[in-house]
Amino acid sequence: MRALVRETRVNRDGLVQPLFIVEGAGVIQPIGSMPGVNRYSVDTVVAECRELDAAGVRSVLLFGIPDAADKDAYATVNHDPNGIVQRAARAIKDALPHLLVIADLCNCEYTDHGHCGILDPAGDVDNDATLEVLAKTALTYARSGVDIVAPSDMMDGRVAAIRTALDDEGFTKVAIMSYAAKYASAFYGPFREAAESTPSFGDRRTYQMDPANGREALKEVQLDLDEGADIVMVKPAMAYLDVVREVRAMTDVPVAVYHVSGEYSMIKAAAERGWIDEERAVDETLTAMTRAGADIIITYFAKGYLQRTR
Ligand code: PBG
Repeated sequence: MRALVRETRVNRDGLVQPLFIVEGAGVIQPIGSMPGVNRYSVDTVVAECRELDAAGVRSVLLFGIPDAADKDAYATVNHDPNGIVQRAARAIKDALPHLLVIADLCNCEYTDHGHCGILDPAGDVDNDATLEVLAKTALTYARSGVDIVAPSDMMDGRVAAIRTALDDEGFTKVAIMSYAAKYASAFYGPFREAAESTPSFGDRRTYQMDPANGREALKEVQLDLDEGADIVMVKPAMAYLDVVREVRAMTDVPVAVYHVSGEYSMIKAAAERGWIDEERAVDETLTAMTRAGADIIITYFAKGYLQRTR
């Protein structure tokens, strides 16, 4: 009877698996702070994508982690036509054309200072200079077969800049999933280890949102919608489900949540100690995000959840 009257079901087609890609060959490198999550090289990520596909995962979100020696102040490697994400996207699309490839679009993994934008001489992020790099990078991703670009930098005007650049080159079908309401959160800790993208000075509070602000999130979402975002995202997830609910109510476009690294690692760590039941905690968490109004859930649990609940 519980099944008969159940109100909420997790959208299995809406689970997105994030993937970290490094240089080299044959690499499957565990990430200490995220048990069960690895960094892959382009060859091994294709093999992993075959497994994901078999598990029923329909979308992946790519993060490139270039060698430290290739980073500079301008994130030049990010728009290298043979950059890491570009090569990975081509390889995945060659092997599995039906797997939806989303590329995180940001500069923090590509700059030597680790900030999401290009810096001005005073060391502040230069919003408009960053837009040019984002648009240029988005084009190289699109040319490599990426289906959706997901700008996660929080610069103002980026969705419009990217849309214009894509449309001008005929990539009208490449969609934009914007990290519209992205908070300056402690829950990104393990990701910064995974992606080697901790800022070398300062923090990201000048461009990421104050966790105290809910109304501001709606404004950020509206700006991105006005600029042409096809999907809007709230990030992190668990501490921001009220924001998810309100975003769901204000727009008819699909709403995504990012169940971020720290949220993943908290469940893993507590479960390892036997303090919580991992499977029940994951089911409850994904259900709560769905109940709050998320259509799409980006989570490091995607593969495991789909395999286990098949
Ligand atoms: C920035 C980016 C971050 C995450 C996704 N994109 C880190 C940050 O903003 O500091 C975090 C994802 C996670 O914690 O799982 N490119």
